[in-house]
Amino acid sequence: MKYAIVYSSKTGNTAQLAQAVQATLPSGDCLYFGFPDPQVLQADLIFIGFWTDKGTCDSQTAAFLQTLTSQSVFLFGTAGFGGEEAYFQRILTAVKTHLAPGVTVVGSFMCQGKMPQAVRRRYESMEDGPHRDMLLTNFDRAVSHPDSSDLLRLSQCVSTILSAPLP
Ligand SMILES: Cc1cc2nc3c(=O)[nH]c(=O)nc-3n(C[C@H](O)[C@H](O)[C@H](O)COP(=O)(O)O)c2cc1C
Repeated sequence: MKYAIVYSSKTGNTAQLAQAVQATLPSGDCLYFGFPDPQVLQADLIFIGFWTDKGTCDSQTAAFLQTLTSQSVFLFGTAGFGGEEAYFQRILTAVKTHLAPGVTVVGSFMCQGKMPQAVRRRYESMEDGPHRDMLLTNFDRAVSHPDSSDLLRLSQCVSTILSAPLP
């Protein structure tokens, strides 16, 4: 079985997830690890990592997803917000709209990812109120993510996928 891992990461959070996926795969079976590249289209299973931009995947990942035709993929991503699983599911639903009907999504994983300090300063300058409080609370909750528990859950998710036969 040959695997490939492609990912897009602006500030390093999704890169951490990609490394956790790589560490979980049987050594020697990973054809490619890096930014989206057409050479991975031959892999039996492609792990695709994205960061969330305006409620869906970043544009580099979106462009790559649109090149797929009949591959099996596992989607993983990070988002600045992450209070509830339903939020991640809405993002994944939006991400999947970039896929052709012949592509099979064998699994997915999302967790929160810290944001740059400049974002917190912007929130701090906002008018006092519940919205500002919510943004600041969320920012502070994100600071430690992805954490070791996120990476372990991702690794377990990948192990489960590897032990199941591909469609
Ligand atoms: C331009 C921009 C837009 C973003 N839009 C969203 C968003 O719509 N929803 C969200 O939850 N996080 C959003 N974020 C936060 C990032 O998705 C999050 O910090 C992610 O972990 C970054 O991943 P990376 O470190 O791999 O680049 C945005 C960040 C940036 C820089």
